[in-house]
Amino acid sequence: MRRIALVNQKGGVGKTTTAVNLGAALARTGRRVVLVDLDPQGNLSTHLSVEVERGAPSSYGVLTGSFTMAQAIVPTRTPGLSVVPTNVDLAGAELEMASEMGRELILREAVDEWEEKARAATGGAPAEYLIFDCPPSLGLLSINALVAAREVFIALQTEFLALQGMTRLLDVIGLLQRRLNPTLAVTGIVPCLYDSRLRLAREVLGELRRYFPEQCFRRAIGTNVKLAEAPSYGQSVFEYAPESSGARDYEQLAEEVLEQERHGRATTPTASAAAATAATGASDEAVDNAVLENAPLAEVLVPRPEHSAVQKSDAREEPSAPIHGDGAEPASRETHDPHAAEVSDASADDSADAAQREADDSTTTDHGARGSTADATRFEPHELAELPELPDDAIEVEPGRGRSSA
Ligand SMILES: Nc1ncnc2c1ncn2[C@@H]1O[C@H](COP(=O)(O)OP(=O)(O)O)[C@@H](O)[C@H]1O
Ligand SMILES: [Mg+2]
Repeated sequence: MRRIALVNQKGGVGKTTTAVNLGAALARTGRRVVLVDLDPQGNLSTHLSVEVERGAPSSYGVLTGSFTMAQAIVPTRTPGLSVVPTNVDLAGAELEMASEMGRELILREAVDEWEEKARAATGGAPAEYLIFDCPPSLGLLSINALVAAREVFIALQTEFLALQGMTRLLDVIGLLQRRLNPTLAVTGIVPCLYDSRLRLAREVLGELRRYFPEQCFRRAIGTNVKLAEAPSYGQSVFEYAPESSGARDYEQLAEEVLEQERHGRATTPTASAAAATAATGASDEAVDNAVLENAPLAEVLVPRPEHSAVQKSDAREEPSAPIHGDGAEPASRETHDPHAAEVSDASADDSADAAQREADDSTTTDHGARGSTADATRFEPHELAELPELPDDAIEVEPGRGRSSA
């Protein structure tokens, strides 16, 4: 069972949309998928029109020990797709858990127990995919997801300051990897809300692919109004608008996620010297020195071959995969936004698709109104090495506030 935490401490970048529609797309291929709503706002539960009464089984109940995972899972209308829903009770969970011993491990224990029981009863895993939809912060809820997960998918909006906060996120992931979850690895970067007609969006996508050639999915999720409308109908995009570009994008993304398993191949061990040091039980200082001396991103990002739940795909081994001169890759869906401030080479070759997009996207977001300095979006890998080490108990981070002691 792949356990994937979908994270980004920024809100509005496409995490929940991706959890729902990637989950639905995987379920449509016959996989059993369980989504866990860990955002007190409950957007994922609403999106799938699963409402829970206060006190009913939910992710809150699992985190506070009142319910097991098995009790909290409810099916959705999409066959194979289930959800552990939430409600506003979850907002209090971080405070309630704060004084618990092993507070970072609560979700992992619940998931382990669920998986073990299922294996004992049926001989197999209870699902093929368990996907945690995290809240827009790096507090205890996200930390619990990152400890329960084996993989991290980072949803990123291909927009101004897309990579802001990434250093901190990778730093927290690195810390968890060293202290609590050595097998954790970032195995996917999902470019979301991508408008290929905007030069800035193409530049950001280009940067993502440059810094994360192994992790960045080839398919960028284009802006598509159907994706934004589907939640208000309590439906996945496949129920609401199966012919839309949004449905196609998530179908393709799911294909790449499946491909990660099909074309499994061991990763290069040299790239994760620091992680290997960690595996041998070396001191944190030794690990930190290794991080400082090696490319720090590699340490955090490259899964260790002996533990990695997912091996890299053949396709992702090709950093020189065909890319348009503009940084957009051919398979990327193009959006058609009549109000875009920066329109460049909207390709005429894709006119049927563009027409579909136009039909789909009567009201796409105007990304052009934002700043246009691509430099501000640049993420320098050395930034990670320059950050001071977190104190032992400082893994709770308030949204937008930098680190703070727990
Ligand atoms: N590809 C997309 N095209 C258009 N709207 C989108 C797209 N992805 C997300 N949205 C919309 O953007 C908003 C934020 O997305 P959401 O998935 O809720 O982000 P997060 O979970 O990261 O806060 C929501 O209103 C959602 O419907
Ligand atoms: Mg969300």
